[in-house]
Amino acid sequence: METREAIFGRRSIRKYLPRPIDPQVLHDIMEGALMAPSAVNTQPWYFVVVQSQDRMERLKAIFSRVSADTRASLEQRFPRHPEVVNDTMGFIRTLGEAPVCVLVFALKPDDGYALETVQSISAAIQNLCLMAYDHGIGSCWMTAPLTTGYGPLLEKEFAPGAGRFMAAVTLGYPAVIPRAPRRKPGRYCIV
Ligand SMILES: Cc1cc2nc3c(=O)[nH]c(=O)nc-3n(C[C@H](O)[C@H](O)[C@H](O)COP(=O)(O)O)c2cc1C
Repeated sequence: METREAIFGRRSIRKYLPRPIDPQVLHDIMEGALMAPSAVNTQPWYFVVVQSQDRMERLKAIFSRVSADTRASLEQRFPRHPEVVNDTMGFIRTLGEAPVCVLVFALKPDDGYALETVQSISAAIQNLCLMAYDHGIGSCWMTAPLTTGYGPLLEKEFAPGAGRFMAAVTLGYPAVIPRAPRRKPGRYCIV
């Protein structure tokens, strides 16, 4: 696949088919994430790939609470679109029935929120999403658990001692592919 096709074709997928991801494909996606550039080659990331039934159930139990806690901010952001609030909360609660969810942590002893660390980890997450797309697999990068304060709980339950929670990324074969949200004009200039 052409890089351009992947960059323009990737969408955030919030509804998935009940189809498992082949372990080899999952490894390839994760190896692609690790190939991201990082500030002074620190590679400051740690990924927990959640796919077993018991771990996924525990994760969804936490995400149910995340979903409930996002209601107020979603209602404020989309006051005239209750369907967006409901759909977004439903996705967060169920993870769109994705068969896999990758939890992303900033490795200790880094301070976790140094701008270079955040940029390096973001590059790895974008690699992950594009690698998934290359395999026909959808993804959705999520920070809702972070903004609702569930990072410490996810750290304790899924990566004790490893570092700070940064994001979750759902993975699975898409059931619904949305249109690309319109890109805002005037966001770059060439000088
Ligand atoms: C840092 C970051 C955090 C995001 N958090 C969420 C989230 O918590 N829930 C969600 O449904 N989508 C989340 N998204 C996905 C965005 O809503 C999505 O990228 C945006 O609407 C553009 O759509 P596209 O990815 O299909 O181009 C996040 C994306 C990024 C990059």
